[in-house]
Amino acid sequence: MMYFILGSHPNLSVSELKAVLGTSFQPVFQSSTLLLNKPINQDPHVLQERLAGVIKIGRIVGSVETWDVQKITDLITNLIVNIEGKNKISFGLSLYHLDNPQKTKELEKQLDVLGLTIKKQLKLTGRPIRYVKGKEPRLSSAIVETNGLLTSGGEFTLFVSKRGIFIGQTSSIQPFKTWSKRDFGRPRRNAKNGMLPPKLARMMINLSGVDPKESTILDPFCGSGTVLMEAILMGFKKVIGSDIWQKAIDDTQINMDWLIEEFQLPKPNLSLYTTSAADLAKLYPNPVDAIVTEVFLGNPRTKTINSQEGQRLEQELLPLFHASFSALKGILKPSGKAVIAFPAFRQQDITWYRLPINDLLTSLGYTILEQHLYFRPNQFVARDIVLLSH
Ligand SMILES: C[S@@+](CC[C@H](N)C(=O)[O-])C[C@H]1O[C@@H](n2cnc3c(N)ncnc32)[C@H](O)[C@@H]1O
Repeated sequence: MMYFILGSHPNLSVSELKAVLGTSFQPVFQSSTLLLNKPINQDPHVLQERLAGVIKIGRIVGSVETWDVQKITDLITNLIVNIEGKNKISFGLSLYHLDNPQKTKELEKQLDVLGLTIKKQLKLTGRPIRYVKGKEPRLSSAIVETNGLLTSGGEFTLFVSKRGIFIGQTSSIQPFKTWSKRDFGRPRRNAKNGMLPPKLARMMINLSGVDPKESTILDPFCGSGTVLMEAILMGFKKVIGSDIWQKAIDDTQINMDWLIEEFQLPKPNLSLYTTSAADLAKLYPNPVDAIVTEVFLGNPRTKTINSQEGQRLEQELLPLFHASFSALKGILKPSGKAVIAFPAFRQQDITWYRLPINDLLTSLGYTILEQHLYFRPNQFVARDIVLLSH
């Protein structure tokens, strides 16, 4: 069995996995932190590079009925001693709950005893041994990476269920440095006008379910180009971006030049246009396989809204969405998919004011296949993400 440790928006991560794995998506268990799936005939490192909503991928290597420190130690040391070489062995442990949070909490306190027992047993190999601990009972991808655990020993995961404890070994972790480099290192960032986190942009592209190598992709509200950057990294056959604002197109070009140099990519097949989404078809009439975009979210907000403001926002934004998505339908192939992030606004009672986009899209002939609300704590504008066909 394989395990996938999910990111901060687990439902979105699971939808992403489903879209990317296709028929190999055969979940056995799912919680808000992880998904267990039947074995997959795919390189976990390639899969990890592709996915944005998965923090770790690994496989279950054994199980024990109860918390038997010696049995677990034997199982893990057997896996570690096979690592060749004379150098230092570094290993770490993470504990996750499957369906038994109470037992997991109890066992958290005993994780160190297990770690130290494994260390002691490994010392018999005569090699230097390091047991890497974090502050939490679950090691972050940064700790796993900076301590070189996957190449010099391993990260072992313990999943506590009512029926026993599964033991897993992590195969790959999210390359957090390259994600953060794209997020914070790119030359043009425009946080004021809204900017997708690169991971969310990647998840949205993956949700479309199209095969990058065979597909064309369009972002008609491209801003500083987050979706387009991810699409180029994923090797899309053709990438098209447009925005009504010339500065956005200039920023996108600058970010793209940076991306190509930093990540040593071949020259992409990219076309950029300065135009409204409603008029794009006049400049680029060829149907695309996927439209992935974050629309204009309204002016930046620093406080909650009341229902009057909600109605005003509806009046301001819905005509734009109507004109844009009625025109964009003409440049989406009949088999194509669209993944769109619309705004939703925080109300005083902390619920979200969602615009009537479902009615709007349905009236335009789109079918809503999935919908996810994406937000971080303390945000006043959430992204109401829809997956569409037509
Ligand atoms: C929220 S931003 C998109 C940000 C982008 N996802 C990024 O990560 O940089 C929305 C963009 O829509 C553009 N825009 C507003 N009205 C538009 C229209 N009618 N057609 C096309 N673009 C429009 C704005 O200039 C802005 O760059």
